[in-house]
Amino acid sequence: MAVERIHQLVDTFGRVVNYLRISVTDRCNLRCQYCMPADGVPWVPKEQVLSFEEMVRIVRVMSGMGISKVRITGGEPLVRRGLTDLIAQFSRLAGVEDISLTTNGVLLAPQARALFKAGLGRINISLDSLRPDSFASITRANLFGRIREGIQAAVEAGFNPIKLNMVVIRDVNDDEIADFARLTKHSHFEVRFLEYMPLDGYGNWDRSKLVSGAEILERLRAVGELEKIRSDDRSEVAQRFRLSGCQGEIGLILPVTQPFCANCSRLRVTAEGFIKNCLFGQEEWNLRDLMRAGGSDEEVREMIRLAVMRKKAAFGGLDLDNDRSARNMSQIGG
Ligand code: GTP
Ligand code: 5AD
Ligand code: SF4
Repeated sequence: MAVERIHQLVDTFGRVVNYLRISVTDRCNLRCQYCMPADGVPWVPKEQVLSFEEMVRIVRVMSGMGISKVRITGGEPLVRRGLTDLIAQFSRLAGVEDISLTTNGVLLAPQARALFKAGLGRINISLDSLRPDSFASITRANLFGRIREGIQAAVEAGFNPIKLNMVVIRDVNDDEIADFARLTKHSHFEVRFLEYMPLDGYGNWDRSKLVSGAEILERLRAVGELEKIRSDDRSEVAQRFRLSGCQGEIGLILPVTQPFCANCSRLRVTAEGFIKNCLFGQEEWNLRDLMRAGGSDEEVREMIRLAVMRKKAAFGGLDLDNDRSARNMSQIGG
């Protein structure tokens, strides 16, 4: 529902913040090598995780402050029971114009239709290999078939666009770039290649594992001619292309070699209810305790404004090569 926006969240660099990524759980049913250590991370106790009521309150307050896009993340969001109901509640909030989900697809097949009906508009699915054995080694789970069914179910449910996210890691899956690109030939998928970011709190990342956007482009040009797709939305994180003669699109997300922080529109809320003003931000604001202590909507707004005002120019002020984020990707939601 469109509402007239009197309020806008603008940070000290003049960036308008209108996009919330809210994590509904830190738990996940995969153990991707680039995201979590093999023996997992300790899960947040259930009572410390936000309830649906608390999440709806946060999104209601934020939508009154100019947040119009809400992306649901995890861990793996579909492991949280009743997500369809949460989406239906978000979709009834005035000002929320775009609800999207990023999932690993494992639990998607039985839920895709209900999610679509509840008001979920867009879906992004992580898929790091098209080879079942390599997929199993990256995710430390044998669930490739389930994810293929999930993707198929998303197509049948009517989701459009469907974006497939591949984190490119040297000597792990970079030999599959061309195969992924060819998926766009007869399908409408947006196949996205993501530069590997240092968000493994246990320190697996180093630059030698990074495949840069320039190198990805070079490999794509060997597949066919690339046409750039122009976009007016400066806050889009992906640069989009089409391989000539193909139906789908290619997206490049290059946070390491071509950061998009100058146009950052995003705020995050973790599953335990901490606001993060950057994926790499080390400062966090505890909305959950404020709400549980009886904080008013105005106090909630004040905390949100403060977090926005403290947004740093880039990467939460971190130096990617030398500093490490205290959280793993799974504890933030991407
Ligand atoms: P839409 O633009 O709404 O379709 O979503 P998205 O592409 O931002 O979401 P998705 O969850 O699919 O994320 C794709 C990749 O972009 C992941 O690797 C995210 O971690 C990364 N990403 C998303 N937002 C940001 C951001 O604000 N900063 C950085 N550095 N990376 C981001
Ligand atoms: N670097 C880049 N992308 C990552 N993702 C998870 N970890 C990383 C990382 N270290 C991706 C997931 C998912 C999205 C939310 O972020 O594959 O698609
Ligand atoms: Fe925004 Fe931080 Fe991502 Fe840069 S790294 S785009 S500032 S969230």
